[in-house]
Amino acid sequence: MTRILALDQGTTSTRAIVFDAGLRPLATASREFPQIFPAPGWVEHDPEAIWATVLSTIREALAQAGPVAALGLTNQRETTVIWDRATGVPLHNAIVWQDRRTAEICADLRAAGLEARMTAKTGLLLDPYFSGTKVKWLLDTIPGARERAERGELAFGTIDSFLIWRLTGGRVHATDATNAARTLLYDIGRNAWDAEICALLGVPMALLPEVKDCADDFGVTDPALFGAAIPITGVAGDQQAATVGQACFAPGMLKSTYGTGCFALLNTGAARVVSQNRLLTTIAYRLNGETTYALEGSIFIAGAVVQWLRDGLGLIARAAETQDLAEAADPAQDLVIVPAFTGLGAPYWAPDCRGAIYGLTRNTGPAEFARAALESVGLQTRDLLEAMRADWGAAGQNVLRVDGGMAASDWTMQYLADILGAPVDRPVITETTALGAAYLAGLGAGICPPPAEFAAQWALDRRFTPAMAETERARKLARWQRAVAATLAV
Ligand code: G3P
Repeated sequence: MTRILALDQGTTSTRAIVFDAGLRPLATASREFPQIFPAPGWVEHDPEAIWATVLSTIREALAQAGPVAALGLTNQRETTVIWDRATGVPLHNAIVWQDRRTAEICADLRAAGLEARMTAKTGLLLDPYFSGTKVKWLLDTIPGARERAERGELAFGTIDSFLIWRLTGGRVHATDATNAARTLLYDIGRNAWDAEICALLGVPMALLPEVKDCADDFGVTDPALFGAAIPITGVAGDQQAATVGQACFAPGMLKSTYGTGCFALLNTGAARVVSQNRLLTTIAYRLNGETTYALEGSIFIAGAVVQWLRDGLGLIARAAETQDLAEAADPAQDLVIVPAFTGLGAPYWAPDCRGAIYGLTRNTGPAEFARAALESVGLQTRDLLEAMRADWGAAGQNVLRVDGGMAASDWTMQYLADILGAPVDRPVITETTALGAAYLAGLGAGICPPPAEFAAQWALDRRFTPAMAETERARKLARWQRAVAATLAV
């Protein structure tokens, strides 16, 4: 029995995938869960709703594929939960990574001159994106929570920790180094929680989970849940799991995942590169106590812009329709969408900025909206890669490995190659997040080969090669940059 179960708990859905011994997907179960928007810019999840999807998807996948040897867990990062250690019950809805409610806390810390110090330790910037200020908000807001936290009665975790706690029947309070690296509370150089930052944010350290390697012993599942004690032997944040799934093990290798948002990670090896261009420094993975670092560019809205065309505007019934619409769009129209629905992420970091559309005419219709939406994903990726090139220099490999839902769209990937002026490689398996989690679990359980052997299995589905004329690329980029500047100025 060498099958491995990967649980991918994402922003809008939970997926459980069983992989066979050769790491080929055997069985998949997936469930969406509700998004809660209590106020403009606020985004919450009900942890119980997430937990219900975890139970049902795992049960469904196991029913299809049979018993597994190990469980690998990967998750939406930064999303913050505080729960009662005695009952396992959360004190509040989870505050999602996209949530902007702590923008003022961040602004105050910046005004106090603390950003450089916090960045030096955590590799992150003072943006509401990260967990630390969300924990502060929860402790400031829920009556008695800080005192209870000080007494050791409460636990904090990103979604991985919360699920490990629940899956092990409350026996294990742990996270892995990649998830810890997203909290703004973790010193990625020393690989330890930072007492000074915790004090600054008023976060009692008794709240924090133990930090482990990505392939490690995270306990076993409570047999009452799935009829067996499944060892949890791999954990990583979803973007880091995708980096592993894409076998980006060598410094200079680069991947970009297109889910709700888009996250590009460049492996920088043992070097902790400090960005001069407002990118993040983060942990790509930690194996056998050795940390591999990455530069990360984070875009908050990628697939979500297509979701908005479907659910917000009702212009399409299914996401896949955007490709045909984009192809049919009027070439004479130059619509630009800046999808700053929840502010702009890297390299702008403008939490209060909101989206804008430029170039509307009487002839603008659904086709032009669809094309501009897909183009906005490529243009934002270009911004990230420009910043990476500036930080990392020519040593960075020029090929971008892509995955996630939008990677299935040939039109979008061709536009991406065109606007980057660089090749874009799509692998055969685009479920790379779950694959990475399964591989880490297999490594932790001693049933998967070392990274070099796993990397040799990576297989190309299609390479997209740039075909756009240089003058056209330059014109489109200049227009995009003017549109972003105007949006930031409003
Ligand atoms: O940092 C947020 C990221 O981990 C969310 O990923 O795939 O759920 O949009 P995704």
